[in-house]
Amino acid sequence: MQINYDFLDNYTFNNKAVTLRNHIVMAPTTLRASLADGSVSDNELNYYRMRAQGPAMIITETAYVNDLGRGWEGGISVSDDDKIPGLRRLASTIQSGGAKAILQIFAAGRQTTTDILRGQQPVSASQQAYPHGEHEVPRALTHDEISQTIADFAQATKRAILAGFDGVELHGANLYLMQQFFSPDSNRRDDLWGGTVEKRRRFGLAVTAKVAQTIEKYADKPFLLGYRQSPEEPMTPGITLEESLEFAKQITTLSVDYLHLSLKDAFQSPFRDQADTQAIIDYYRAILPQNYPLFVAGLLKKPEQVESLLDTGGAGTFAALGRELIIEPNWVQKVKNNDEAAIRYALSPSDFELLGIPKILEKWLLTRFRNGLPITTDFEFDPMKPWQYYKHAVIQTPKPIDPTQLMTLKKRQ
Ligand SMILES: Cc1cc2nc3c(=O)[nH]c(=O)nc-3n(C[C@H](O)[C@H](O)[C@H](O)COP(=O)(O)O)c2cc1C
Repeated sequence: MQINYDFLDNYTFNNKAVTLRNHIVMAPTTLRASLADGSVSDNELNYYRMRAQGPAMIITETAYVNDLGRGWEGGISVSDDDKIPGLRRLASTIQSGGAKAILQIFAAGRQTTTDILRGQQPVSASQQAYPHGEHEVPRALTHDEISQTIADFAQATKRAILAGFDGVELHGANLYLMQQFFSPDSNRRDDLWGGTVEKRRRFGLAVTAKVAQTIEKYADKPFLLGYRQSPEEPMTPGITLEESLEFAKQITTLSVDYLHLSLKDAFQSPFRDQADTQAIIDYYRAILPQNYPLFVAGLLKKPEQVESLLDTGGAGTFAALGRELIIEPNWVQKVKNNDEAAIRYALSPSDFELLGIPKILEKWLLTRFRNGLPITTDFEFDPMKPWQYYKHAVIQTPKPIDPTQLMTLKKRQ
C-alpha cells in the first residue's frame, strides 16, 4: 500500500521564487576529505553525487571563511577566490541530482588548535577556553579583526554566488565562532560586542545583515540565506532558549529565508529546564510567522518520524537528516518508491566504500562518532588492520523517539 506522506509535497518560498521538491534536506556533515589547501576533492564530489537525487536540498559541510576560521584538517575552504572552481564543481554536482545546493559557511573560533592553524593561536570573542575537557585558550579578536571577519563572511557569500550555489547557510550553531559571540560563556567582552545580551547578539546580526546585502548586490537569481542555531548551551553561564528565541525573531527580519535548528533530538524539550516538557520546535513556531521555513535536525530516521515532525510543525517544517543520509543515500527514493523495507538504518563496515564514504570520514565515524552511530559489528579500530572490524556482531538499533513525548505533541495540534 502506498503511503502519501505530506513531507514528499513540494514547497515554494514566499518571498523568493524557489521551489523545494520535498521537505527533506541533507544536514551538513563534514567529510574532512578536502585537499590540504581546502579545495574540494573528487572523493567529496562522489559522496555528494550519490546523495543528490533524493533530498530537496543539500547543505554542504561547513566551509571556513578565512584562514583563522579553519577547524580541522580536510575542511572545505571558501576563504580565497582560487577555491571558486572547485566550489563550482561541488554546486553543479549537487544540482545535477535535482537538489538545491547550499554552502554552509563558518569560522571555528576557539574550536580549533594552533597546529591546525599552522602556528597561529585560535581566536574567539574573549580569552576564554571551552570549559569541558582540555582546550587551548584563544586570543580575543580586536575590533578591527571583528569587522574584517564580518567582511570575510560577505566575501565567502560572494564566492558562493559566483560558484553557482543556490544559497548559503550561516553556521551559528555547534559552538563555533558565531555562537561564541552570542554565548555568555565564551563572550566576556565589555565593549560594542559583549557585556549585555543585546551586544552579544551584535556579531551574528552584523554578519547576517552584511551577507544579506551581498546577496542583494551580487545574486542575479534567487539565492537563499539560512541561519543555523543551537537553541541552548549546557554550561553556566550559557545561551538560554529565551535568548535564542529573541535572537531568532531578530535575524528572521533580516532577509533570512529559513532557520535551521541543530538539536540532538528533533522533538526534544529544553534541557536547561528539566521541568519544561514543551518541545523546542513549538516555541519556535510560536514566534515565527506561520509556515516560515524551519529546518529541524536530530535523530530523524524513519518516514513516520519525519511525517510526525511535519504534523507538529506545519507545512513550513523541514526534516534535516544527518547520519541517516550517511547510512542511506537513497532514503527519499525508497520512500517514494514504496520500498521502505529496503531503507538501511545501520551501517556495516563492509559498506563504507559502497556508500561512497571517504576513508578519512570512515575513520571519524569509527572513532569520535562511534557512540552515536548504529554500526552492525563491533571492532577495534586500527587503520593498519581493517579486518579487525569484524570481531563480533552487535547490531545496535537507533534510539527511538520517546513515544510519550510524541503523544503530547500530537494532542496539542
Ligand atoms: C560526521 C558529522 C559531521 C557533521 N558536520 C557538521 C557540519 O559541518 N556543520 C553542521 O552544522 N553540523 C554538522 N554535523 C551535525 C549534523 O548536521 C546534525 O545536526 C547532527 O548529526 C544531528 O542530526 P542526525 O541525528 O540526523 O545525525 C555533523 C554531524 C556528523 C555526524
